Amino acid sequence: MSEKIKIALIGLGTVGTGVARVILEESERLTRRCGKQIELAKVVVRDKKRPRMIDLPEEIVTDSLQEVLDDKSISLAVQLIGGIHPAKEYMEQLLDSGKDVVSANKALLCEHGSELFSRAREQGRSIAFEAAVAGGIPIIHVLNQAMSGNQITSIEAILNGTSNFILSEMFLGSRDYEDVLQEAQELGYAEADPTLDVDGTDAAQKLCLLTQLACGTKVSLDQFPRQGIDTLALDDLLYADELGYSVRLLAVTRISNNQLEMHVQPTLVQLDKPLAQVNGAYNMIALEGDIVGKTWYSGLGAGQNPTASAVISDLVDTVAGRNKLIFPFMDLWDSQQPLEVLPAEKIRRRYYMRFNVLDQPHVFAEMADILGRNQISLASIIQHETPETGESNTDEQQVVPVVIMTHLTTEGQIQAADKELSELKSLLPNRVIMPVLD
Ligand SMILES: NC(=O)c1ccc[n+]([C@@H]2O[C@H](COP(=O)([O-])OP(=O)(O)OC[C@H]3O[C@@H](n4cnc5c(N)ncnc54)[C@H](OP(=O)(O)O)[C@@H]3O)[C@@H](O)[C@H]2O)c1
Repeated sequence: MSEKIKIALIGLGTVGTGVARVILEESERLTRRCGKQIELAKVVVRDKKRPRMIDLPEEIVTDSLQEVLDDKSISLAVQLIGGIHPAKEYMEQLLDSGKDVVSANKALLCEHGSELFSRAREQGRSIAFEAAVAGGIPIIHVLNQAMSGNQITSIEAILNGTSNFILSEMFLGSRDYEDVLQEAQELGYAEADPTLDVDGTDAAQKLCLLTQLACGTKVSLDQFPRQGIDTLALDDLLYADELGYSVRLLAVTRISNNQLEMHVQPTLVQLDKPLAQVNGAYNMIALEGDIVGKTWYSGLGAGQNPTASAVISDLVDTVAGRNKLIFPFMDLWDSQQPLEVLPAEKIRRRYYMRFNVLDQPHVFAEMADILGRNQISLASIIQHETPETGESNTDEQQVVPVVIMTHLTTEGQIQAADKELSELKSLLPNRVIMPVLD
């Protein structure tokens, strides 16, 4: 008979329910994998009366965290509540009461990870957080273990399944943003309030965590440019395709000369690159190490089962004692000289620009003049032929889209040109600018 280990689950929502189900239904498998029998001793929820998607013995469900803190026989807590408060205070109390913690909360670990990781180390406990980045893809294990001999030199990643679902469905089905967003909500890929997914915040939080692990430097959201997919139109995806690219919400970190270049932006990716071929709610992470070269990891980045899979692997690692060995050696302690983050205006790339312009003489000349004065040289221009309207009618001028691909330039030069362009009367306000991944 294997030794028993008592654990608590804090949160029984989408992920918590999936985790509880695996613990109860796959008990034998888990015992074989970690050498101990995992007993779900307590489940903490906010509202005990709410109907649940899983049958649990009534006596283990509570709305009191204190019951877990007071129970010294519980040595591990799987904390699956979202947001910052009270998740932060809960995690501190769990660590202080001598429990190891498994968490999926990227928002909390992005903002307060450093202090929580240090607190765990001081208490001789561990925090495992595989599920906080890219759901079912074991990318934290890859960084901490499989690539431990490498210095990571770049991370290029699709880290938000909702945005990727929307972008690929828009393109494949020739559909509008709003239409696909609604479907994503119906399918459960997007929250009722999808802001953090579609404005790039969720992907940026995950990139911060990956970057901290990859290079031992804490970075915060306000240190790098972040833009979501909520301003894109189907036309942008079609123009990108015409030019040989796919549009993906790309989270990028590059490390060179002791500097970090970071950004989360909708980006044009050449169609033959693996990142361009990731469709639906899938994530992909391309990691480059100085020894191994480039490697790719793909899978479902969210949802009940993929996320539960990652949580369970942390649970098994912690029960088996593996996490206790690995945690102290993760690059989480700011022990190295912090790396400088390259200011946004110095980031150097090629750009896609789409303008809606009034079809009248001199428009091109005005635009070319502004771009030229800002040292931006043009690689190609698309303006599709428009139907001839006969006599020019100044009251109802035709609006035509113009798409420009630039040669290498900087974000600073692009922003300066964009400011001047915004003052041209012949340009309509809805301009779209995206970088290109080369
Ligand atoms: N859903 C995903 O696909 C996914 C993927 C990766 C990571 N994550 C992360 O996993 C975490 C959980 O996400 P989720 O989607 O499972 O959330 P969820 O469905 O909203 O569930 C949250 C659970 O936490 C409980 N809870 C909230 N506040 C509480 C409090 N103060 N005291 C006790 N219990 C409390 C809720 O209790 P009641 O049920 O009683 O309200 C609920 O059971 C989040 O950090 C999220 O970012 C989620």
